[in-house]
Amino acid sequence: MTEQTSQAALDDYLAGRFWAEDQLLKDLRADIAARAPRINISPEAGATLATLVHAVKATRILEVGTLFGYSGTWLARALPDEGHLDTLELSPVHAEAAREWFDRAGVGDKVTVHLGDAGETLASLDGAYDMVFIDADKEGYPSYLDHALRLVRPGGLILADNIHQRGRLAAASEDDASVRAIRTYVERIASDPRLRSTVLPLGDGLSLSVVSAT
Ligand SMILES: C[S@@+](CC[C@H](N)C(=O)[O-])C[C@H]1O[C@@H](n2cnc3c(N)ncnc32)[C@H](O)[C@@H]1O
Repeated sequence: MTEQTSQAALDDYLAGRFWAEDQLLKDLRADIAARAPRINISPEAGATLATLVHAVKATRILEVGTLFGYSGTWLARALPDEGHLDTLELSPVHAEAAREWFDRAGVGDKVTVHLGDAGETLASLDGAYDMVFIDADKEGYPSYLDHALRLVRPGGLILADNIHQRGRLAAASEDDASVRAIRTYVERIASDPRLRSTVLPLGDGLSLSVVSAT
């Protein structure tokens, strides 16, 4: 067996057990590919989010950056019946598509899609959330972290996608606004005494921060 074959076999083995997509998630991803940028998280990241929902017994989740609801569907499905997901989206087209997909997934009554700029919507929200997942405009991450620290309960989680910036994070020659903002975010989650953080090598890098319980 070649190395490549054995890697493919390993991927299939794990995917089949931990992050297999049902037909709805496959159709949702195909809809994104047809009508929007393919910037949704991976099935592996979706399964990680869902596992963490169970780990912290989340009933209230906040997502910044909905797209068509791919990550939101993984999150909402992991919630208990009384749980709720608030997800924030700037684009009316994306918000409308997400509402349709949440309904088709049977989780529409557990999800509120807030249309508008995340910064404005966040200022209007109150805690306590068990988990915040940040996956929108990168320049906004430092400000979204401020809101997350205000909104997440002790012992809750703050996650953020695209931390690697496709390898640009640690490249001194890279200095655009997105990379600078992600560096600020990373420095803060690495040094804030209220947080215990790491970055998981999933997709473009998924940061995971636990908010201090004390
Ligand atoms: C990476 S996509 C989200 C992907 C989604 N979390 C998933 O994995 O399925 C980022 C989304 O954030 C939205 N967005 C960008 N800037 C925003 C802002 N200032 N406020 C709210 N949403 C914003 C974009 O329109 C886009 O739909």
